[in-house]
Amino acid sequence: MSDTVAKLTIGDKTYEFPVLSGTVGPQVIDIRSLYAQTGMFTYDPGFTSTAATDSSITYIDGDKGELMYRGYPIAQLAEKSNYLEVCYLLLYGELPDTAQMADFTERVTRHTMLHEQMHLFYRGFRRDAHPMAIVCGVVGAMAAFYHDSTDINDPMQREIASIRMVAKIPTIVAMAYKYSVGQPFVYPRNDLDYASNFLRMCFSVPAEEYVVNPVVARAMDLIFTLHADHEQNASTSTVRLAGSSDANPFACIAAGVACLWGPAHGGANEAALNMLKQIGTPDRIPEFVAKAKDKNSGFRLMGFGHRVYKNYDPRATVMQQTAKEVLGMLGVENNPLLQVAQELEHIALTDPYFIDRKLYPNVDFYSGIILEAIGFPTSMFTAIFALSRTVGWISQWKEMIADPQTKIGRPRQLYQGSVERAYVGIDKR
Ligand code: ACO
Repeated sequence: MSDTVAKLTIGDKTYEFPVLSGTVGPQVIDIRSLYAQTGMFTYDPGFTSTAATDSSITYIDGDKGELMYRGYPIAQLAEKSNYLEVCYLLLYGELPDTAQMADFTERVTRHTMLHEQMHLFYRGFRRDAHPMAIVCGVVGAMAAFYHDSTDINDPMQREIASIRMVAKIPTIVAMAYKYSVGQPFVYPRNDLDYASNFLRMCFSVPAEEYVVNPVVARAMDLIFTLHADHEQNASTSTVRLAGSSDANPFACIAAGVACLWGPAHGGANEAALNMLKQIGTPDRIPEFVAKAKDKNSGFRLMGFGHRVYKNYDPRATVMQQTAKEVLGMLGVENNPLLQVAQELEHIALTDPYFIDRKLYPNVDFYSGIILEAIGFPTSMFTAIFALSRTVGWISQWKEMIADPQTKIGRPRQLYQGSVERAYVGIDKR
């Protein structure tokens, strides 16, 4: 409960609203009674000042550039943990002990295969379909294949749906890739860790076994970890909004995939790499920086800026280091894209336009360089982001369903259309 109140004066009347405190971060004004008290709504397009829920999963301090999952700083998790342990942490709130980790790993690895009938579903897509279109469709279609985990009121079914999502999403994404390159689907292998299994499903062919490079597997695992959750971003809010109507979990995650696809959100990693390629050489950077500063150009530096971070994105710091390691290990440390990226970052961070607007590189600025070095085409980048974020979406969805305060999400509007008018027949218009 709250000791502080916020007072709002409209005309000669003053209304009081409780001010709530979280464990850390800005306080919030509880305006749930605003409409009942005043007959007015608040107006906040893009939710720039609105907390739509309370949550115990992820915390971001955008000014300081801090990100924590369940209280653990992302840099510590990136260095000491691994993706599957982070999945456990996000889903259940605590780091697992040895027995819990073994049990969780077993449950995830025993659910990695897809219903065989789903293979036929893929064949309905054009070969040149974008992997995100396929992933969106296949995830939504899971509701048609796994009926026994769609009852959202049954905690056991919610749990099974969560495990299924985390376990099957690498298989779904890898199959989307295999389909696009005309190669046979590769079944998961349960003796491999999560990242290695995904790499093998993408790059192995029946004619030849794929030997997983441990540095590449570690980089893949890091990319998964760094993207695993990011509190109430657009796709997560989409999952919550879809779930607030009691829609089944697979439909909700498919909604999240759809939202993530946009270039202002998850599609930025693909867009950032395409931009680096377009720039091509460091001498062309000033031309692109000038274009980004020109409001009439409609061009933005992709991989720069963030709604919440007004400081260096802590994930970008880890990603930049990993990019150097992976390229070094693959013997391509002189990769021109990395050089363009580093130079662009340097120029942008010393330019008053970017300094004044607090525009720093975000996680997607460097992830594309790593993914390309591993061998993924740009069209796969956002699908890999969706794979990584699935655990965050499902953790947030579970938290919402279990929260007794959850109501169907139903924003209001400031109506600017015509006032009431009489219908006029077509002959009189
Ligand atoms: N390049 C050039 N200028 C930019 C950029 C950019 N990448 N991003 C923001 N700006 C400018 C805007 O033009 C605006 O300038 P103004 O105040 O003079 O009008 C100011 O910075 C604030 O920008 P907004 O669009 O109001 O900021 P918002 O918080 O709404 O947008 C967003 C955040 C969408 C991420 C934006 O920075 C952007 O489009 N970045 C490029 C796309 C990108 O990298 N997205 C990935 C986000 S991270 C993720 O989803 C994992």
